[in-house]
Amino acid sequence: AMAEKAGYTHFMQKEIFEQPRAIIDTLAGRIKSGSPEVFLPDIGLEDEVFKSFDRVVMLACGTSYHAGLIGKFLFEGLARIPVEVDLGSEFRYRDPLVGPKDLVVAISQSGETADTLAALKEATSKGATALAICNVVGSSLTREASGTLYTHAGLEIGVASTKAFTTQLVALYLLALHMGRLRGNVSDEKGIELVDDLIKLPGLLQEVLDKEEEIKKIAEDYCQADDFLYLGRGLCYPIALEGALKLKEISYIHAEGYPAGEMKHGPIALIDEKMPVVVLANNTDVFEKVLSNMQEVSARGGKLIALTEEDNSAALALADSAVMIPAAPQTLAPVLLTIPLQLLAYHISVLRGTDVDQPRNLAKSVTVE
Ligand code: G6P
Repeated sequence: AMAEKAGYTHFMQKEIFEQPRAIIDTLAGRIKSGSPEVFLPDIGLEDEVFKSFDRVVMLACGTSYHAGLIGKFLFEGLARIPVEVDLGSEFRYRDPLVGPKDLVVAISQSGETADTLAALKEATSKGATALAICNVVGSSLTREASGTLYTHAGLEIGVASTKAFTTQLVALYLLALHMGRLRGNVSDEKGIELVDDLIKLPGLLQEVLDKEEEIKKIAEDYCQADDFLYLGRGLCYPIALEGALKLKEISYIHAEGYPAGEMKHGPIALIDEKMPVVVLANNTDVFEKVLSNMQEVSARGGKLIALTEEDNSAALALADSAVMIPAAPQTLAPVLLTIPLQLLAYHISVLRGTDVDQPRNLAKSVTVE
């Protein structure tokens, strides 16, 4: 089994480190440097059809649902189309309002999650068009959808999803950019910029992976905690949810992801020196707001682990521990921020001696209700 893990201790660790390669593979043949165009022949929809929906509905479960939450920002931002995101298990049982003017995007690593599959069928039975974002060729979901945008993450063995998630994000960037172009919302200039940023993404990701030792030290400092809070705003809120989910799944530590602005409506009551607070404090339009949330934590004796850029002295001054991500456009930063959160959860779990690749009670793919 050592050979299969290619020198890594766990499949999860190997899969975390495969992310630059997985993203290169997911982008391959779909974009070209210096061109704003996106080539997605596999989605099976004519341009005229793809651009003419009134709404996008994202359906997914687990980590894939977090990708859907990011997808909302991307489609609304780039294509200016309203987006709803729902969990398969909620959507399928509530007689949802969905119809022929809706594009349903079902997101699933395995393509076999029962609730996502049933939700997609519910939507298509009401006349919606369905597209899958999926990592497994020929899976049930891809057979039910009109077309599939495959992520090329490669086989994912660790139960906690890592490379499947970041490639789902990349697939959503491509899809949203494509729709934005067709709907006339993305200029050539802006399109080229996003394409070139996507091409740079694997290299930036590698820079974050190179910080594994630093992150491991932070894991050592905080691995005894019983609870963690993860805070983010905007595009970083779903990343906070995903960071908390990773920690829960594999370390069994209670962790909550929260929109930073909502902290004052509840979680602030929990803050003390025993609960580490992980803050996504990168440079964005809402950074000043995040900073004031950090001050609120700090004033109550909370321990802050900040993810930020090297030049962000305001965040660094408040942080008890920090992981630096390279400067990147704020639309792409969520992908970079995901990496330290995966590595933090991974190393905390290793230190606590849990079964990282096959955590108790969890399945790689939930094919029954
Ligand atoms: C399970 C896995 C998660 C995954 C979720 C959805 O809970 O443990 O890692 O995110 O199912 O799976 P899917 O294959 O539909 O993305």
